[in-house]
Amino acid sequence: MKIAVFASGTGSNFAAILEAIKSKEISNVEVVLLVSDRLEALAVKKAKDEAIPVFTFRAKDYPSKEAYEKEILDELTKWNVDLIVLAGFMRLLGSVLLGAYDGRIINVHPSLLPAFKGKDAIGQALDYGVKVTGVTVHYVDEGMDTGPIIAQQAITVYSDETRETLIKKIQVQEHRLLPKVIQSLANKEERK
Ligand code: GRF
Repeated sequence: MKIAVFASGTGSNFAAILEAIKSKEISNVEVVLLVSDRLEALAVKKAKDEAIPVFTFRAKDYPSKEAYEKEILDELTKWNVDLIVLAGFMRLLGSVLLGAYDGRIINVHPSLLPAFKGKDAIGQALDYGVKVTGVTVHYVDEGMDTGPIIAQQAITVYSDETRETLIKKIQVQEHRLLPKVIQSLANKEERK
């Protein structure tokens, strides 16, 4: 299964997928493209270091979402991408990509959805004072963090939890859960 990872930031989930492939924790999965809307994103640097093809774009250089998504779609087609993995991609997808990849786009989100959708889910959880939060991997639809849930991992929030300790715990679980889900989707693809 050929995947494209979309990332706007650090790319620690992107790195975790690459690591899971390298260590053979997951198999029959290949990352063929990194897409980013931020040319200076650390994820882009990581992809270049690993010689993974990169497509970057600046949304403001295009007249519309459709216009840049058409270019992305051309790239996805060129690389025969089967699955899009959003890992910290800070833009809602539009009709071009959702139409072409319906049911083949997943996202990782740092909360137990449907709680704490959108930005800074970790901060939202801490502010609310929840005792349990977690990580969700879900299919992507036109909403913000709203598609059908594929897998979740709960995480206990201790009374002395800080933002830093919680971020670390969330990352550890994201880096486990996302490759696991990708593997299960690859297994399904193989059985088709
Ligand atoms: C992750 O917490 C993910 O759940 C959210 O964005 C963050 C991306 O982190 N959607 P990274 O760029 O993979 O380090």
